[in-house]
Amino acid sequence: MTQKKTLKLPKFIGHRGVKDLCPENTLESIARAFEIGLNFVEIDVKISKDKVPILLHDDTLDRTTNGSGPAIDYDYEDIKKLDAGKFYYKKNTNIFIPKLEDVLSVCINNNGNLNIELKPNKNFEKENTYQIYKLTKNINQIDIFFSSFDIISISEISELYPQSIRSFLLDDFKEYNIDDLINISINHDLKICGLNLDLVTADIIKKIKKSNISITVYSDKNINSSSANDIFSIGVDSIFVDNPLDLLGKF
Ligand code: G3P
Ligand code: MG
Repeated sequence: MTQKKTLKLPKFIGHRGVKDLCPENTLESIARAFEIGLNFVEIDVKISKDKVPILLHDDTLDRTTNGSGPAIDYDYEDIKKLDAGKFYYKKNTNIFIPKLEDVLSVCINNNGNLNIELKPNKNFEKENTYQIYKLTKNINQIDIFFSSFDIISISEISELYPQSIRSFLLDDFKEYNIDDLINISINHDLKICGLNLDLVTADIIKKIKKSNISITVYSDKNINSSSANDIFSIGVDSIFVDNPLDLLGKF
């Protein structure tokens, strides 16, 4: 168990690799992120039926592959046969859904760091977290931090792997308010939290920072230079970017 307790967050983290430049959550997308100068990428990870951690954002295969139905219903050997690039390039490709294991090798080979979002299918939260933990617990060549919107996954990784760096994600204030977020972070020893851009105000950032919690921000759309400037100026540490080409070198 080798990850350390502190982590220097970069200004920008590639979102699902660099999802506006390549098909999201693929080896191509991750390699491209490092090629253009990012040193950190975020990926969404869930298990297949045979418990292989794979990269996929949605519960189902429909949006990003030519398959259909929940990924948890298929073994990885069948998932790997699907075309995970066609939705992006609008023509057949050989791009496939990678295993987390393959991505770890790409990151290590590129000296690139990784944010693993624990994105389980419902009722598979603990198994998902455990399988991801098993693959990552002995990696010390790169920095890894774990994040999740899912409280079960965050609690589980905190228990299994207390030496890891972890981040709770919040998309809205329906289930948890800002005090809940801070309490969850303190109780689980989470050093980072991740917020939807829509939630970001100077007051909220100030309140979170008072508890010594670093803040990442993501959005449905690529965050542009002016918005990045605004949110960095109020204390946000790091931004998830879909296409960083206009941002790199400016901050
Ligand atoms: O972790 C930031 C971001 O990845 C969260 O949103 O839906 O893109 O996984 P989503
Ligand atoms: Mg994600």
